[in-house]
Amino acid sequence: MTGEQPPLLETIEEVRGSLAAVRARGGTIGLVPTMGALHAGHGALIERARRRDDCVVVSIFVNPIQFDRRQDYEAYAIDMGQDRRYCAELGVDLVFAPPAAELYPRPQRAFVEVAGVSEHLCGKFRPGHFRGVATVVMKLFHIIEPRRAYFGEKDGQQLAVIRAMTRDLNMDIEIVPVSTVREPDGLALSSRNRRLSPAEREIAPVLFRALQRGRDTVLDGESSSSEVIRAAAEVLRHCPGARVEYIEVVDADTMQPAGRITGRVMIGAAIWLGATRLIDNLVCEPPAAERTS
Ligand code: PAF
Repeated sequence: MTGEQPPLLETIEEVRGSLAAVRARGGTIGLVPTMGALHAGHGALIERARRRDDCVVVSIFVNPIQFDRRQDYEAYAIDMGQDRRYCAELGVDLVFAPPAAELYPRPQRAFVEVAGVSEHLCGKFRPGHFRGVATVVMKLFHIIEPRRAYFGEKDGQQLAVIRAMTRDLNMDIEIVPVSTVREPDGLALSSRNRRLSPAEREIAPVLFRALQRGRDTVLDGESSSSEVIRAAAEVLRHCPGARVEYIEVVDADTMQPAGRITGRVMIGAAIWLGATRLIDNLVCEPPAAERTS
């Protein structure tokens, strides 16, 4: 059932004014930061926020400074009307959708750099990406001042970056991870899936299958990361349409290459199907670590 359309606010002043009333009556604010093009993965974040917080704010902002390629930013299409209707269906209280000039009225000079966790996986291939993400999320945190913020595990490295940022900078905001939502064939939901041709969509679940193979190898007791990577890569090798950008096994918290697998690790991968880049990950731990935890 479609609920009432939530107010869509475009300025920092308006959103601060509106949320001051929530805070004054002792309500908690939950923030779901997005770049629009909402799908059921965002829906899961919103639903989780609705269960925990009194007021759910969804931000919709295509952040120019996190794109490493200008043409990707320019091609990033969102339908605000559709996103707002989706927010209404899920009972969102407020949508904050500022134009770029509201968040970046002048060239940005201050940035948030989260060392270490930003380095490997996507960080290696998308220079400046996590600096752009951390900077805009910090801005949103200062504007909205949420009690909690909700991020999908699908973007596992992004989640680790935001966690490290809030911990290291002593921010009193709980970062709530939400499980990846998948299609029945395993493909993780992503706004980018809409760009796949029918043929690419058919082969896209190979990414999840490769990660599953990697995870099974860890669960079978393999402790060498390179063997795990080799097993996952073998699945992708049989799929000529997929170009592998990376497969890595990293410590699940620090995002540093694991070498020998002795605790919780994240197996992360990025592939290209034509002009579309897909990422996904699975977290697992070796059988001995599971027994002792
Ligand atoms: O995950 C996203 O959609 C974006 O990276 C985020 C967190 C909204 C920052 O622009």
